Amino acid sequence: MSVLIKNGRIITATDDYIADIFIEGETIRSIGKKLDVKADKEIDATGKLVFPGGIDPHVHLDMPFMGTFSSDSYETGTRAALYGGTTMLIDFILQKQGNTLKDALKEWKGRSDHNCVGDYSFHMAVTDFNDNTKKEIRHFIEEEGITSFKTFMAYKGALMIDDRQMIGLMEEVKQHGGLINVHATNGDMIDYLTQKNREEGKLAPLYHYLSQPEVTEAEASERFVDMINYTKCPGYIVHLTCEGALNAVRNATRRNQKVFVETCIQYLILDASLYEKDFEGAKWVMSPPLREKKDQETLWAGINQGIVNVVATDHCPFMWEQKLMGRDDFSKIPNGHPAVENRMELLYSEGVAKGRITLNKFVEVACTNPAKIFGMFPRKGTIAVGSDADIVLFDPNEKHSLSAATHHMNVDYSGYEGWEVTGKVKTVLLRGTIAIDNNECLIGKGFGKFIKRNKVSQVI
Ligand code: URP
Ligand code: ZN
Ligand code: ZN
Repeated sequence: MSVLIKNGRIITATDDYIADIFIEGETIRSIGKKLDVKADKEIDATGKLVFPGGIDPHVHLDMPFMGTFSSDSYETGTRAALYGGTTMLIDFILQKQGNTLKDALKEWKGRSDHNCVGDYSFHMAVTDFNDNTKKEIRHFIEEEGITSFKTFMAYKGALMIDDRQMIGLMEEVKQHGGLINVHATNGDMIDYLTQKNREEGKLAPLYHYLSQPEVTEAEASERFVDMINYTKCPGYIVHLTCEGALNAVRNATRRNQKVFVETCIQYLILDASLYEKDFEGAKWVMSPPLREKKDQETLWAGINQGIVNVVATDHCPFMWEQKLMGRDDFSKIPNGHPAVENRMELLYSEGVAKGRITLNKFVEVACTNPAKIFGMFPRKGTIAVGSDADIVLFDPNEKHSLSAATHHMNVDYSGYEGWEVTGKVKTVLLRGTIAIDNNECLIGKGFGKFIKRNKVSQVI
């Protein structure tokens, strides 16, 4: 099967030009002006932006967490992502404390194998680093193509590891060419503040926010960058939300240290005032919590300064009924919110259309940098000869509004209900096959491939 996309405005992290793209099978074969080739299918992209499929490197599908499971399956989550122009996700496997990493992979494969519509990979979350775990790291990097290892400095008693384990893991991961991801907040402080608020009868969602003040994130981020500076292990801070934490990274760069930073779309556009809506605030109970307007400004600036490298979602949806588990106690509200379908359109609308970031920056943080950092570039994350034909055709002018009534994520509310956006995903190709067209998904579960990733590169 061959496809010719004609006359689109092609945007990559560095380029912006009008040309045709010729695709054969899964791969981009040629790019040029008025290509003289015959194809099985022609798509007229006049007036459309044509950019690489989005990569969301931070999602939690069908994940056991806080006494329940996140509500998107691998099928519904990867399909919803495609509707929103995201062709590849990186999901998290969680090691069970006391068990091996191999056991965890087996469990996660049981839920994901043959179920994905879009392409996917895994990070491995190490929640119990010991002599046995240490022996498994090389296998994951070299044999499984799982080259990034997630650590939690919070969720005390469930997922958190201590600094001793952290340093040991960093040394091992560094030795084999991998990367450490971190949820960088101070778990002990948060645990203390959470208990204190509960004991004082402060049980509303607002106290989730007040139990995780900015200092808990700033302190842990600084500790993490010091540890990766010491071990020289490449590090990636997930879902960074605030000025204090970003300044810790800024300071690290003064000593010429490289550290990658991800923020998420919600931290750029939503703020903590949503926690004042009584229990409705549970929709935005996530960790870290939403912050202040000044933090949004810091994050947009960080993107333009090149200190924030990736905009992800931390998509971790729960049905309203699941959120009600914490009706009488904020600490029992499952943490997370749905966004995988909305990320690209919101980032375009709030970022590019409002003049906060350029089109090239949009592609850089939503597509190219995730591919580079996580060892998939140039196969993924760009439009170039030889790359997978993961391509989005986007109408930059179409206005529409977001709603649970029309989204495809398996969750019965939207964190962005009624939000007016400018720009709409029209057609999505995944490895040369038309996956989304005219609001319809044309591929089924099992189409999505597990993508083995390379060792971590330092190309950005
Ligand atoms: O609230 C969140 N972020 N839920 C998912 C787990 C995590 O910390 O990433
Ligand atoms: Zn986290
Ligand atoms: Zn997460």
